[in-house]
Amino acid sequence: MDKKRIAIFASGNGSNFEAIAKACADGRVDAEVALCVTDRPGAYVTERAARFGVPVVEFRPRDYASKADFETMLLTRLREKEVDLICLAGYMRIIGDVLLEAYEGRIINIHPSLLPAFQGADAIGQAMEYGVKIYGVTVHYVDHTLDGGKIISQAAVQYEGNLREELEPMIHAQEHVLYPATVQKILKEL
Ligand code: GRF
Repeated sequence: MDKKRIAIFASGNGSNFEAIAKACADGRVDAEVALCVTDRPGAYVTERAARFGVPVVEFRPRDYASKADFETMLLTRLREKEVDLICLAGYMRIIGDVLLEAYEGRIINIHPSLLPAFQGADAIGQAMEYGVKIYGVTVHYVDHTLDGGKIISQAAVQYEGNLREELEPMIHAQEHVLYPATVQKILKEL
């Protein structure tokens, strides 16, 4: 069977892009990263993509009249690359109807909290503010809601201190394990 083809959407650093690309390269994930998409031209994720030889689509949302317009452009590029699965990894935009309809059940996201707790921006900061002792990460399907789609997998991170610079790397390390493992798990359902 041909390998499934993944597109990773990211707006910034791209450490989750790298975790998935590495897992594909060393066979832990039986798929190929066929495309990197970013809405922030020049974001660090584009350098990581270059290192892995992954083609990049960079676009500026403000160059388009609407979300439907830029998602239609993206859909063409995704189809050219025969993408089976879209992984959002720090993509700071809500996915619109064009992509949701075309890729129904085939768009997933990683969020740095144990959903449904701490949805939206700065989930780690929200959880620290609340004073939780068990943090975590969630991979979920993407639907019309913000961080509300069906949960696929979660992992907990226990931390009782109050130093963000200590906690954040622990959460990211957990993401880098959970996201590739989850992609591998759902490939057979595509
Ligand atoms: C991660 O914490 C992810 O959970 C959230 O955005 C961050 C992206 O980090 N959705 P990176 O760009 O993959 O390093």
